[in-house]
Amino acid sequence: MSVTAPTHGSGHPHGVDQGKRDFLKLVTGSAAVIGVGAIAWPLIDSMNPSADVLALSSVEVDLTPVPEGQGITVAWRGKPIFVRHRTAKETKEAEDVKLSELIEPQPDSDRVKPGHSQWIVVIGICTHLGCIPLGNKPTDPRGDWGGWFCPCHGSQYDTSGRVRHGPAPLNLYLPPYAFESDSKIKIG
Ligand code: FES
Repeated sequence: MSVTAPTHGSGHPHGVDQGKRDFLKLVTGSAAVIGVGAIAWPLIDSMNPSADVLALSSVEVDLTPVPEGQGITVAWRGKPIFVRHRTAKETKEAEDVKLSELIEPQPDSDRVKPGHSQWIVVIGICTHLGCIPLGNKPTDPRGDWGGWFCPCHGSQYDTSGRVRHGPAPLNLYLPPYAFESDSKIKIG
């Protein structure tokens, strides 16, 4: 998609006005996906309306700077993507959970890439009403299962991004992505 960033002043040629309309549609669209309850993302997103970033269909992420036990948030198509480097203990706990204990039963192995089970990559949008859960910053609460905590209504997710405490009904969604090397993924 080709998008022209809006400029101020008068006498724009027609093409600039068209670009502005397209740009506004993009911003509106990305905010709508995340929902009314979202806390920070749409604001940040619309304050940094880099049209070329919004339009990107895929994003490469260098995993090298992400230490064990920590995560980063990257933007992909206007959505926050959580990339978490799990510790060996967190990975084992995620693998060992009995499926009968889960609200939406799904083995951890279906949520990670073979050979890279220390990395969990999820779309950071709560499946209840669309807030952005906490847990990706070192100072964030991660909830009782060590994954993510949604402050809007208290949903909790484990280190596989599976919902462990409602009201969220579903696990965090997984974006399409692939490992390009041991230290780089491509989302989208
Ligand atoms: S939006 Fe997350 S718990 Fe309601």
